[in-house]
Amino acid sequence: MDQEGCPDHMSGNTERTLVIVKPDGVQRGLVGEILGRFERRGLKIVALKMMTVSRDLAERHYAVHQGKFFYEDLVSYISSSPVVACIIEGPHAIGVVRAMVGATRPQEAAAGTIRGDLALAGLRNLIHASDAPETAQTEIELWFRPDEIVDLPREIDRWVYE
Ligand code: CMP
Repeated sequence: MDQEGCPDHMSGNTERTLVIVKPDGVQRGLVGEILGRFERRGLKIVALKMMTVSRDLAERHYAVHQGKFFYEDLVSYISSSPVVACIIEGPHAIGVVRAMVGATRPQEAAAGTIRGDLALAGLRNLIHASDAPETAQTEIELWFRPDEIVDLPREIDRWVYE
C-alpha cells in the first residue's frame, strides 16, 4: 500500500471515484446498464453495495449544497429509496467517469452519455459521480470503510491500460 492507502499495483494515473446509482436508476432497473458501461470501458468496480441512505449520510454527502434552493429536495430524494454505491477504479477514472455520466441536467446531457441516453429531466439524473480528486477522496471515506474496498489486479488490465 502507498501513503494514500492505494494498492501498490495502481500506477501514477490510477484514480478511484465514488459512483452512486440514485433511486431513479435502481427503481428503473438500470443498475446493470449503468455499471456495465463502466466495466465495458475497462474500469474496475472495487467496492459495491446496495443501501438505503440515512438522512445523516445524505446531509453529509450534499453538505456543499447546504443553503441552496434545491438542497432539501436533493437530501430527501437520495434517501427516499435504495441506491447502489460503488467505487470505480482506473486510469484517470474521475474525469473519465464524469464524461461518461454527462451534464447535470438530463435535458442538457449529450447523447452517448449515461444521462443523455437514459435520463430526461429534473432531479432524475440517475447517477452521482465525484467531480475532483479531493471530492472523490472525501466521498469514498464517507460511503465506504477501508475493509469494504478490494485490491483487484486483473490479467486483462494490460490489454486495456498499457
Ligand atoms: P449530483 O451529481 O448528485 O450532485 C449534486 C446534485 O445537485 C446534482 O447531482 C443535481 O441533481 C443537483 N443540482 C445541481 N445543480 C442544480 C440546480 N441548479 N438545480 C437543481 N438541482 C441541482
